[in-house]
Amino acid sequence: MTSLRGNWNYPTSIRFGAGRIVELPDHCRALGMQRPLLVTDAGLAPLPMIANAVRLCREAGLGCEIFADVQPNPVEANVIAGVAAYRAGQHDGVIAFGGGSALDAAKAIALMAGQTRPIWDFEDREDWFTRVNVAGMAPVVAIPTTAGTGSEVGRASVLTDLRDHTKKIIFHPKMLPAIVLEDPELTVGLPSHITAAVGMDALSHNLEAYCAPGYHPMAEGIAVEGMRLIREWLPRAVGDGADLEARSHLLIASSMGATAFQKGLGAMHSLSHPCSANLGTHHGLTNAVVMPYVLVWNRAALEEKMVRLAAWLGLAERSFDGVLQWVLDLRSAIGIPDTLAEIGVHEQHAAPFAPQALNDPSTGGNPLPMTERDFEQLYLNCIHGVLEAA
Ligand SMILES: [Fe+2]
Repeated sequence: MTSLRGNWNYPTSIRFGAGRIVELPDHCRALGMQRPLLVTDAGLAPLPMIANAVRLCREAGLGCEIFADVQPNPVEANVIAGVAAYRAGQHDGVIAFGGGSALDAAKAIALMAGQTRPIWDFEDREDWFTRVNVAGMAPVVAIPTTAGTGSEVGRASVLTDLRDHTKKIIFHPKMLPAIVLEDPELTVGLPSHITAAVGMDALSHNLEAYCAPGYHPMAEGIAVEGMRLIREWLPRAVGDGADLEARSHLLIASSMGATAFQKGLGAMHSLSHPCSANLGTHHGLTNAVVMPYVLVWNRAALEEKMVRLAAWLGLAERSFDGVLQWVLDLRSAIGIPDTLAEIGVHEQHAAPFAPQALNDPSTGGNPLPMTERDFEQLYLNCIHGVLEAA
Protein backbone atom coordinates (compact mmCIF):
# COMPACT_ATOMS: atom_id res chain seq x y z
CA MET A 1 0.00 0.00 0.00
CA THR A 2 1.30 3.45 -0.87
CA SER A 3 2.01 5.75 2.03
CA LEU A 4 -1.36 7.15 3.08
CA ARG A 5 0.09 10.25 4.64
CA GLY A 6 0.24 13.88 3.61
CA ASN A 7 0.19 17.57 4.56
CA TRP A 8 -2.49 19.46 2.66
CA ASN A 9 -3.65 23.07 2.85
CA TYR A 10 -6.94 22.65 1.07
CA PRO A 11 -9.51 23.67 2.25
CA THR A 12 -7.55 24.22 5.49
CA SER A 13 -4.34 22.76 6.94
CA ILE A 14 -4.86 18.99 7.04
CA ARG A 15 -2.24 16.73 8.58
CA PHE A 16 -3.17 13.25 7.44
CA GLY A 17 -1.74 9.87 8.37
CA ALA A 18 -1.88 6.95 10.79
CA GLY A 19 -0.29 7.63 14.17
CA ARG A 20 -0.10 11.39 13.75
CA ILE A 21 -2.07 12.07 16.93
CA VAL A 22 1.37 12.45 18.56
CA GLU A 23 1.68 15.79 16.75
CA LEU A 24 -1.28 17.26 18.64
CA PRO A 25 0.74 19.40 21.11
CA ASP A 26 2.75 20.94 18.23
CA HIS A 27 -0.45 21.93 16.42
CA CYS A 28 -1.92 23.45 19.59
CA ARG A 29 1.24 25.48 20.06
CA ALA A 30 1.24 26.60 16.43
CA LEU A 31 -2.15 28.19 17.11
CA GLY A 32 -0.88 29.90 20.26
CA MET A 33 -2.54 27.58 22.77
CA GLN A 34 -1.10 26.99 26.22
CA ARG A 35 -4.31 25.72 27.85
CA PRO A 36 -6.50 23.94 25.29
CA LEU A 37 -9.97 22.71 26.25
CA LEU A 38 -10.54 19.28 24.71
CA VAL A 39 -14.21 19.05 23.75
CA THR A 40 -15.63 15.60 23.09
CA ASP A 41 -18.84 13.69 23.80
CA ALA A 42 -19.80 11.60 26.81
CA GLY A 43 -19.41 8.33 24.89
CA LEU A 44 -15.83 9.02 23.81
CA ALA A 45 -14.65 10.69 27.03
CA PRO A 46 -13.77 7.46 28.90
CA LEU A 47 -11.90 5.91 25.94
CA PRO A 48 -8.11 5.51 25.99
CA MET A 49 -7.70 7.72 22.92
CA ILE A 50 -8.94 10.73 24.91
CA ALA A 51 -6.72 9.98 27.88
CA ASN A 52 -3.83 9.58 25.45
CA ALA A 53 -4.48 12.97 23.80
CA VAL A 54 -4.65 14.70 27.19
CA ARG A 55 -1.47 12.93 28.30
CA LEU A 56 0.37 14.00 25.12
CA CYS A 57 -0.63 17.63 25.74
CA ARG A 58 0.27 17.61 29.42
CA GLU A 59 3.64 15.93 28.80
CA ALA A 60 4.36 18.74 26.36
CA GLY A 61 3.59 21.30 29.08
CA LEU A 62 0.08 22.28 27.94
CA GLY A 63 -2.69 22.71 30.53
CA CYS A 64 -5.28 20.47 28.88
CA GLU A 65 -8.73 19.78 30.40
CA ILE A 66 -11.73 17.81 29.08
CA PHE A 67 -15.28 19.00 28.50
CA ALA A 68 -17.60 16.12 27.53
CA ASP A 69 -21.13 17.28 28.31
CA VAL A 70 -22.17 17.02 24.65
CA GLN A 71 -25.17 14.99 23.59
CA PRO A 72 -25.84 13.42 20.18
CA ASN A 73 -27.60 16.10 18.07
CA PRO A 74 -26.15 18.80 20.39
CA VAL A 75 -28.25 21.62 21.83
CA GLU A 76 -27.61 25.18 23.02
CA ALA A 77 -27.23 24.06 26.67
CA ASN A 78 -24.18 21.96 25.67
CA VAL A 79 -22.57 25.05 24.15
CA ILE A 80 -23.40 27.27 27.12
CA ALA A 81 -21.90 24.72 29.54
CA GLY A 82 -18.82 24.39 27.34
CA VAL A 83 -18.29 28.15 27.18
CA ALA A 84 -18.61 28.29 30.98
CA ALA A 85 -15.94 25.57 31.33
CA TYR A 86 -13.73 27.38 28.79
CA ARG A 87 -13.92 30.65 30.69
CA ALA A 88 -13.64 29.09 34.17
CA GLY A 89 -10.51 27.17 33.12
CA GLN A 90 -9.01 30.24 31.40
CA HIS A 91 -8.49 28.25 28.23
CA ASP A 92 -7.01 29.74 25.10
CA GLY A 93 -8.11 27.30 22.42
CA VAL A 94 -10.25 24.26 21.65
CA ILE A 95 -9.35 20.72 20.62
CA ALA A 96 -12.48 19.45 18.84
CA PHE A 97 -12.28 15.67 19.18
CA GLY A 98 -14.91 13.16 18.03
CA GLY A 99 -17.76 12.58 15.63
CA GLY A 100 -20.05 15.20 14.15
CA SER A 101 -21.85 16.06 17.38
CA ALA A 102 -18.63 16.65 19.34
CA LEU A 103 -16.99 18.59 16.50
CA ASP A 104 -20.05 20.78 15.96
CA ALA A 105 -20.42 21.50 19.68
CA ALA A 106 -16.69 22.24 19.99
CA LYS A 107 -16.70 24.63 17.03
CA ALA A 108 -19.75 26.40 18.50
CA ILE A 109 -18.02 26.68 21.90
CA ALA A 110 -14.95 28.17 20.21
CA LEU A 111 -17.16 30.66 18.36
CA MET A 112 -19.06 31.63 21.51
CA ALA A 113 -16.02 31.84 23.80
CA GLY A 114 -15.87 35.63 23.44
CA GLN A 115 -19.35 36.64 22.22
CA THR A 116 -22.04 38.54 24.11
CA ARG A 117 -25.02 37.79 21.83
CA PRO A 118 -27.01 34.51 22.02
CA ILE A 119 -25.93 31.82 19.59
CA TRP A 120 -29.13 31.97 17.49
CA ASP A 121 -28.08 35.49 16.41
CA PHE A 122 -25.39 33.77 14.34
CA GLU A 123 -27.70 31.47 12.38
CA ASP A 124 -26.76 31.07 8.73
CA ARG A 125 -29.10 33.73 7.34
CA GLU A 126 -28.32 36.72 5.14
CA ASP A 127 -25.23 38.42 6.61
CA TRP A 128 -25.83 37.47 10.23
CA PHE A 129 -22.28 36.12 10.52
CA THR A 130 -21.03 39.72 10.43
CA ARG A 131 -22.48 40.10 13.94
CA VAL A 132 -19.67 37.88 15.27
CA ASN A 133 -16.86 39.49 17.23
CA VAL A 134 -14.04 37.68 15.41
CA ALA A 135 -11.47 38.60 18.08
CA GLY A 136 -13.61 36.62 20.54
CA MET A 137 -13.35 33.36 18.57
CA ALA A 138 -11.02 30.70 19.98
CA PRO A 139 -8.62 28.80 17.68
CA VAL A 140 -9.53 25.16 16.92
CA VAL A 141 -7.59 21.98 16.18
CA ALA A 142 -10.11 19.42 14.89
CA ILE A 143 -9.64 15.67 15.20
CA PRO A 144 -12.38 13.54 13.58
CA THR A 145 -12.98 10.05 14.96
CA THR A 146 -15.69 9.01 12.53
CA ALA A 147 -15.57 9.18 8.75
CA GLY A 148 -18.89 10.82 8.03
CA THR A 149 -19.89 14.37 8.78
CA GLY A 150 -16.72 16.06 7.63
CA SER A 151 -17.45 18.79 10.17
CA GLU A 152 -13.66 19.11 10.65
CA VAL A 153 -13.47 20.97 7.33
CA GLY A 154 -16.80 22.80 7.63
CA ARG A 155 -17.51 26.45 8.41
CA ALA A 156 -20.66 25.79 10.41
CA SER A 157 -22.16 23.84 13.30
CA VAL A 158 -25.56 22.17 13.30
CA LEU A 159 -27.43 22.59 16.59
CA THR A 160 -30.93 21.47 17.53
CA ASP A 161 -33.10 24.38 18.66
CA LEU A 162 -35.34 22.94 21.37
CA ARG A 163 -37.75 25.90 21.11
CA ASP A 164 -39.11 24.61 17.80
CA HIS A 165 -37.32 21.25 17.40
CA THR A 166 -35.50 22.23 14.26
CA LYS A 167 -31.86 21.88 13.35
CA LYS A 168 -30.25 25.25 12.82
CA ILE A 169 -26.96 26.07 11.14
CA ILE A 170 -24.61 28.39 12.99
CA PHE A 171 -22.14 29.87 10.51
CA HIS A 172 -19.00 31.94 10.36
CA PRO A 173 -16.25 31.54 7.73
CA LYS A 174 -13.65 31.42 10.51
CA MET A 175 -15.40 28.45 12.14
CA LEU A 176 -13.33 26.37 9.70
CA PRO A 177 -10.78 24.78 12.05
CA ALA A 178 -7.30 26.23 11.46
CA ILE A 179 -5.66 22.80 11.70
CA VAL A 180 -7.23 19.38 11.11
CA LEU A 181 -5.42 16.32 12.40
CA GLU A 182 -6.68 13.23 10.58
CA ASP A 183 -5.39 10.02 12.10
CA PRO A 184 -7.24 7.00 10.67
CA GLU A 185 -6.15 4.85 13.64
CA LEU A 186 -8.66 6.83 15.73
CA THR A 187 -11.52 5.48 13.60
CA VAL A 188 -10.55 1.80 13.86
CA GLY A 189 -12.69 1.10 16.94
CA LEU A 190 -15.91 2.37 15.35
CA PRO A 191 -18.53 -0.45 15.37
CA SER A 192 -19.50 -1.68 11.91
CA HIS A 193 -23.10 -0.37 11.99
CA ILE A 194 -21.84 3.14 12.86
CA THR A 195 -19.13 2.87 10.20
CA ALA A 196 -21.89 2.07 7.71
CA ALA A 197 -24.19 4.91 8.81
CA VAL A 198 -21.54 7.66 8.94
CA GLY A 199 -19.99 6.39 5.69
CA MET A 200 -23.39 6.84 4.04
CA ASP A 201 -23.54 10.38 5.44
CA ALA A 202 -20.23 11.05 3.67
CA LEU A 203 -21.67 9.52 0.50
CA SER A 204 -24.79 11.69 0.79
CA HIS A 205 -22.62 14.83 1.06
CA ASN A 206 -20.61 13.95 -2.04
CA LEU A 207 -23.71 12.83 -3.95
CA GLU A 208 -25.95 15.76 -3.04
CA ALA A 209 -23.13 18.24 -3.72
CA TYR A 210 -22.55 16.62 -7.12
CA CYS A 211 -26.27 16.73 -7.93
CA ALA A 212 -26.91 20.28 -6.70
CA PRO A 213 -27.53 22.71 -9.56
CA GLY A 214 -25.09 25.55 -10.10
CA TYR A 215 -21.66 25.90 -11.69
CA HIS A 216 -18.91 24.60 -9.41
CA PRO A 217 -16.59 22.21 -11.28
CA MET A 218 -14.09 22.10 -8.39
CA ALA A 219 -16.73 20.86 -5.96
CA GLU A 220 -17.95 18.30 -8.52
CA GLY A 221 -14.43 17.00 -9.08
CA ILE A 222 -13.94 16.46 -5.37
CA ALA A 223 -17.38 14.89 -5.02
CA VAL A 224 -16.95 12.23 -7.71
CA GLU A 225 -13.58 11.09 -6.33
CA GLY A 226 -15.06 11.07 -2.83
CA MET A 227 -17.80 8.74 -4.09
CA ARG A 228 -15.27 6.50 -5.84
CA LEU A 229 -13.32 6.09 -2.59
CA ILE A 230 -16.53 5.25 -0.71
CA ARG A 231 -17.61 2.74 -3.35
CA GLU A 232 -14.28 1.00 -3.12
CA TRP A 233 -13.62 1.13 0.61
CA LEU A 234 -16.83 1.47 2.65
CA PRO A 235 -17.86 -2.20 2.33
CA ARG A 236 -14.33 -3.22 3.34
CA ALA A 237 -14.28 -1.00 6.43
CA VAL A 238 -17.73 -2.27 7.45
CA GLY A 239 -16.52 -5.87 6.97
CA ASP A 240 -13.20 -5.39 8.76
CA GLY A 241 -12.95 -2.37 11.03
CA ALA A 242 -9.20 -2.89 11.49
CA ASP A 243 -8.46 -2.40 7.76
CA LEU A 244 -6.38 0.74 8.10
CA GLU A 245 -6.17 1.33 4.36
CA ALA A 246 -9.97 1.35 4.12
CA ARG A 247 -10.23 3.56 7.20
CA SER A 248 -7.73 6.01 5.66
CA HIS A 249 -9.59 6.39 2.37
CA LEU A 250 -12.94 6.79 4.13
CA LEU A 251 -11.60 9.47 6.45
CA ILE A 252 -10.46 11.67 3.58
CA ALA A 253 -13.60 10.86 1.53
CA SER A 254 -15.62 12.26 4.42
CA SER A 255 -13.59 15.50 4.47
CA MET A 256 -14.05 15.65 0.68
CA GLY A 257 -17.83 15.42 1.07
CA ALA A 258 -17.95 18.37 3.44
CA THR A 259 -15.60 20.34 1.19
CA ALA A 260 -17.79 19.65 -1.84
CA PHE A 261 -21.07 20.53 -0.16
CA GLN A 262 -20.20 24.20 -0.06
CA LYS A 263 -21.92 23.86 -3.46
CA GLY A 264 -25.16 22.76 -1.78
CA LEU A 265 -26.95 19.72 -0.39
CA GLY A 266 -30.50 18.65 -1.19
CA ALA A 267 -33.64 16.80 -0.19
CA MET A 268 -31.80 13.89 1.47
CA HIS A 269 -30.66 16.27 4.19
CA SER A 270 -33.96 18.21 4.15
CA LEU A 271 -35.89 14.98 4.86
CA SER A 272 -33.36 13.71 7.36
CA HIS A 273 -33.06 16.75 9.63
CA PRO A 274 -36.70 16.80 10.89
CA CYS A 275 -36.49 13.05 11.64
CA SER A 276 -33.40 13.56 13.82
CA ALA A 277 -34.63 16.79 15.43
CA ASN A 278 -38.04 15.32 16.41
CA LEU A 279 -37.40 11.61 16.81
CA GLY A 280 -33.64 11.41 17.43
CA THR A 281 -32.92 9.19 14.43
CA HIS A 282 -29.24 8.84 13.50
CA HIS A 283 -28.31 11.47 10.89
CA GLY A 284 -26.21 9.29 8.60
CA LEU A 285 -28.55 6.32 8.86
CA THR A 286 -31.54 8.50 7.96
CA ASN A 287 -29.73 9.91 4.92
CA ALA A 288 -28.82 6.38 3.88
CA VAL A 289 -32.44 5.25 4.06
CA VAL A 290 -33.85 8.16 2.05
CA MET A 291 -31.02 8.26 -0.54
CA PRO A 292 -32.52 6.13 -3.35
CA TYR A 293 -35.99 7.68 -2.96
CA VAL A 294 -34.56 11.18 -3.35
CA LEU A 295 -32.41 10.13 -6.32
CA VAL A 296 -35.43 8.70 -8.12
CA TRP A 297 -37.59 11.71 -7.23
CA ASN A 298 -35.00 14.00 -8.88
CA ARG A 299 -34.43 11.68 -11.83
CA ALA A 300 -35.54 14.14 -14.53
CA ALA A 301 -32.78 16.55 -13.55
CA LEU A 302 -30.06 13.92 -13.14
CA GLU A 303 -30.04 11.54 -16.13
CA GLU A 304 -27.03 13.11 -17.84
CA LYS A 305 -25.02 13.72 -14.68
CA MET A 306 -25.44 10.11 -13.60
CA VAL A 307 -23.90 8.86 -16.86
CA ARG A 308 -20.70 10.76 -16.05
CA LEU A 309 -20.75 9.62 -12.43
CA ALA A 310 -21.29 5.99 -13.42
CA ALA A 311 -18.28 6.18 -15.74
CA TRP A 312 -16.02 7.56 -13.00
CA LEU A 313 -17.26 4.97 -10.52
CA GLY A 314 -16.55 2.21 -13.03
CA LEU A 315 -20.10 0.87 -12.99
CA ALA A 316 -21.01 -1.69 -15.64
CA GLU A 317 -24.20 0.19 -16.51
CA ARG A 318 -23.35 3.81 -17.29
CA SER A 319 -26.72 5.38 -16.63
CA PHE A 320 -29.03 6.72 -13.94
CA ASP A 321 -30.24 3.16 -13.34
CA GLY A 322 -26.66 1.96 -12.93
CA VAL A 323 -26.01 4.49 -10.15
CA LEU A 324 -29.36 3.77 -8.51
CA GLN A 325 -28.66 0.03 -8.51
CA TRP A 326 -25.23 0.64 -7.00
CA VAL A 327 -26.77 2.70 -4.17
CA LEU A 328 -29.41 0.03 -3.51
CA ASP A 329 -26.82 -2.77 -3.55
CA LEU A 330 -24.43 -0.82 -1.29
CA ARG A 331 -27.20 -0.09 1.19
CA SER A 332 -28.20 -3.72 1.52
CA ALA A 333 -24.60 -4.96 1.58
CA ILE A 334 -23.81 -2.85 4.64
CA GLY A 335 -27.08 -3.48 6.47
CA ILE A 336 -29.00 -0.21 5.97
CA PRO A 337 -32.79 -0.60 6.38
CA ASP A 338 -34.91 -0.05 3.30
CA THR A 339 -37.64 2.27 4.64
CA LEU A 340 -38.07 5.11 7.12
CA ALA A 341 -40.74 3.02 8.87
CA GLU A 342 -37.98 0.63 9.96
CA ILE A 343 -36.25 3.45 11.87
CA GLY A 344 -39.38 4.77 13.55
CA VAL A 345 -40.68 7.37 11.08
CA HIS A 346 -44.32 6.67 10.23
CA GLU A 347 -47.17 7.96 8.10
CA GLN A 348 -48.39 10.38 10.80
CA HIS A 349 -45.01 12.16 10.69
CA ALA A 350 -45.13 12.99 6.97
CA ALA A 351 -47.49 15.99 7.17
CA PRO A 352 -45.93 17.69 10.24
CA PHE A 353 -42.34 17.13 9.01
CA ALA A 354 -42.98 18.36 5.45
CA PRO A 355 -42.96 22.12 6.23
CA GLN A 356 -39.81 21.67 8.34
CA ALA A 357 -38.12 19.89 5.44
CA LEU A 358 -39.19 22.65 3.06
CA ASN A 359 -37.65 25.29 5.34
CA ASP A 360 -34.43 23.36 5.79
CA PRO A 361 -31.42 25.24 4.37
CA SER A 362 -30.48 22.14 2.35
CA THR A 363 -33.64 22.42 0.24
CA GLY A 364 -32.18 25.19 -1.93
CA GLY A 365 -29.62 22.72 -3.34
CA ASN A 366 -32.11 20.11 -4.49
CA PRO A 367 -31.96 19.47 -8.24
CA LEU A 368 -35.74 19.98 -8.58
CA PRO A 369 -37.69 22.76 -6.85
CA MET A 370 -39.68 21.37 -3.92
CA THR A 371 -43.04 22.23 -2.35
CA GLU A 372 -44.49 21.21 1.01
CA ARG A 373 -46.74 18.73 -0.82
CA ASP A 374 -43.70 17.27 -2.60
CA PHE A 375 -41.96 16.70 0.72
CA GLU A 376 -45.03 15.05 2.20
CA GLN A 377 -45.20 12.71 -0.79
CA LEU A 378 -41.46 12.03 -0.62
CA TYR A 379 -41.73 11.17 3.09
CA LEU A 380 -44.56 8.74 2.27
CA ASN A 381 -42.42 7.19 -0.50
CA CYS A 382 -39.57 6.67 1.99
CA ILE A 383 -41.95 5.29 4.64
CA HIS A 384 -43.72 2.85 2.29
CA GLY A 385 -40.71 1.93 0.15
CA VAL A 386 -41.98 3.43 -3.12
CA LEU A 387 -39.34 4.48 -5.66
CA GLU A 388 -41.17 7.11 -7.68
CA ALA A 389 -40.12 10.13 -9.75
CA ALA A 390 -41.60 13.57 -9.11
FE1 LIG B 1 -24.89 15.08 6.66
